[in-house]
Amino acid sequence: MGRIIAIANQKGGVGKTTTAINLSSSLAGLGKKVLALDMDPQGNMTSGLSVNKNEVENTVYDLIIGGAEIEECICSEVFENLDVLPSNIDLSAAEIELIGVDNKEYIIKNEIEKVKDDYDYVIIDCPPALSMLTINAMTTADSVLVPIQCEYYALEGLSQLVHTIELVQERLNPSLEIEGVVFTMYDARTNLSLQVVENVKDNLNQNIYKTIIPRNIRLAEAPSYGMPINLYDPKSAGAESYMMLAEEVINKGEE
Ligand SMILES: Nc1ncnc2c1ncn2[C@@H]1O[C@H](COP(=O)(O)OP(=O)(O)O)[C@@H](O)[C@H]1O
Ligand SMILES: [Mg+2]
Repeated sequence: MGRIIAIANQKGGVGKTTTAINLSSSLAGLGKKVLALDMDPQGNMTSGLSVNKNEVENTVYDLIIGGAEIEECICSEVFENLDVLPSNIDLSAAEIELIGVDNKEYIIKNEIEKVKDDYDYVIIDCPPALSMLTINAMTTADSVLVPIQCEYYALEGLSQLVHTIELVQERLNPSLEIEGVVFTMYDARTNLSLQVVENVKDNLNQNIYKTIIPRNIRLAEAPSYGMPINLYDPKSAGAESYMMLAEEVINKGEE
């Protein structure tokens, strides 16, 4: 049975999409069957995994408005072991379409339910907001993985995020867990990155992944080639770190 992990943080630019893309593809590289689900209207997970977001026939939006079956929305074997459920700017209208719809918090959950046995992992990229799209991701997910950028304001906004997760646990998805936090864009040349890691460890009572994702230019370049890092530059520090994160995620699930 598939394990569903939402990559969430309402801050933009913290490494959600980079983590969603490369965790998905590293898990696939380790032989796991993966569905990458793009819940962000920016569609960067979609294009970063080589799917043309403007030409794709059906997206998450069509799923939400009931315009297509989930099987018609999934792009199969985009890379070995990796399927993509794409999104694009159409999804930005979903919030409005959902007003007044019954069980709108569970639309994606009910759809993913139909296919989740086909996968070992479903990895969900969330938009940078605590919106109905993020709520849909959190009702669908078994756990939430929170990327934290190693910068001065790292802890800002985290309490709102944890509060939102707790509300979803109470009211919508009692089995939702916090998978843990992963530090991103760590710069070993500065003291700041180290201070941020120490500070978060001291102040956040959550599981923290041992793997720390370094700032690595290859990770920033790869999406423009539509390639995940393990295919774009498998020897890079970025590729190695996401492979280690994938191994940690697998081991944690088997505990
Ligand atoms: N570890 C990293 N090293 C270098 N650049 C990174 C790294 N992680 C993310 N980036 C870059 O930072 C920007 C924001 O990352 P992104 O994953 O899109 O964040 P989010 O999805 O949270 O908005 C992107 O341009 C991305 O390429
Ligand atoms: Mg993003």
